[in-house]
Amino acid sequence: MKSVTLLSALAAAAATVQASPHKRADIEPITTSGNAFFKGKERFYVRGIDYQPGGAAADVDPLADTKVCKPDIEKFKKLGINSIRVYSVDNSKDHDECMEELAKAGIYVMIDANNPRYSINRADPHPSYNAVYLQSVFATIDAFAKYPNTMAFFSGNEVIHDEKETTYAAKYVKAVDRDMRAYIKARGYRKILVGYSAADVTMNRLQTASYFNCGTEEERSDFFAFNDYSWCTTDFVTSGWDQKVKNFTGYGLPIFLSEYGCIHNTRNFREIESLMHKNMTAVYSGGLMYEYSMEPNKYGIVKIKGGDVKGGVDQTGAREELKPEFQNLVDAMKKYPAPSGDGGYSKERKASECPQPDDHWMIESSALPDMPEKAKQYLTNGAGKGPGLKGDGSQWAADSASVSEGGKPTDAKGQVVGGASGSNDQDENAGVRGQAPFLVSGAVALMTVFGIFAL
Ligand SMILES: *[C@@H]1O[C@H](CO)[C@@H](O)[C@H](O)[C@H]1NC(C)=O
Ligand SMILES: *[C@@H]1O[C@H](CO)[C@@H](O)[C@H](O)[C@H]1NC(C)=O
Repeated sequence: MKSVTLLSALAAAAATVQASPHKRADIEPITTSGNAFFKGKERFYVRGIDYQPGGAAADVDPLADTKVCKPDIEKFKKLGINSIRVYSVDNSKDHDECMEELAKAGIYVMIDANNPRYSINRADPHPSYNAVYLQSVFATIDAFAKYPNTMAFFSGNEVIHDEKETTYAAKYVKAVDRDMRAYIKARGYRKILVGYSAADVTMNRLQTASYFNCGTEEERSDFFAFNDYSWCTTDFVTSGWDQKVKNFTGYGLPIFLSEYGCIHNTRNFREIESLMHKNMTAVYSGGLMYEYSMEPNKYGIVKIKGGDVKGGVDQTGAREELKPEFQNLVDAMKKYPAPSGDGGYSKERKASECPQPDDHWMIESSALPDMPEKAKQYLTNGAGKGPGLKGDGSQWAADSASVSEGGKPTDAKGQVVGGASGSNDQDENAGVRGQAPFLVSGAVALMTVFGIFAL
């Protein structure tokens, strides 16, 4: 393994500087201005869907296999969506064909930079912020930076949760967020957006948003996203979304919902009406419906035949549109198009004050941990070949002792969060979301060892 690493690293570095011989679809990259996304001069709204056939249990990269992505892209076209989020990708694989097909369909992609084996451990973040972990994160950037329809990378997914102790991990996730931006810049890539995707937790949502938008330019995220399951086929006011607009008015970064779609009642997806309405567009930039495929937690709108056998490893079966949700989403997308004009966005990209510690927020100092010494070489040399989804994992990687940081790692120690420390395992409104797929699968043991990550 070791002897080929250097060669692969050189090959990967060479590949990034060479122009690709592949003719790519013409799709304009997404940028930000003030608190909004833009496609050229036009305001861009996320009108998308979360996409991870098989869920965390299967841990299949749907963008590395055309037998998976192609039939789904046909469904995406039918749905009329303009974006997808993929939670787990294999940074050792090629994604040219799927990304090209998506670009041809006008679909942008948001990629989670973490995966089950390479992630920050919410229960004990300090040792998990190490060079082995960052190498994987950076390799994921390398794998997707070349595609014009890569819209964004998520630096973390629901790492901070409803227990106060988990807010301590925000320091490390924000360091990763900063490091990812630094890597994109150092490697000469286009400015691909980097931001955090927060859990549906009222107690610390605003603090988290402020935290990721405070400090130096290098430290501030490019956007903020959170997951929201409060609609439940009600309306703008009953769901409390009006309050979420009020609370975020004046926030200086683009915001969108990285997951929405409560399943308490038959879904009609009228969320989209409000998301595209002037009630929201000055503050929010759309959202991603959770989710495409039907998994044990029952949020899907497409059933993949045979996708639930053998731990979900084979996601290539026939696709069945589930009634009535699939058609309801098609209809809602048609009925509630993106508004024209600028939606009343704010032109100023205003920084927030760092939140003060209180009953729900632990972080006292705005200082972030330094990038681990051993990881700094990646900025100049590139990350080299990614470990993929089956590598040794990073949470107990050897170099963690050398990590220098601005806080006390022991603060969070011993505060083991729910054992598996997986995301979404328990939402604030418990029961609304149900259990994440891995908790009802044979992957429990793996997740207990490897900590944070879930859909
Ligand atoms: C809005 O902010 C207030 C004050 O911080 C808080 O009490 C309330 O729960 C927030 N509402 C929502 C929907 O986040
Ligand atoms: C817009 O806001 C008003 C006032 O809060 C509310 O009555 C109306 O239902 C909202 N409409 C949409 C589409 O969100």
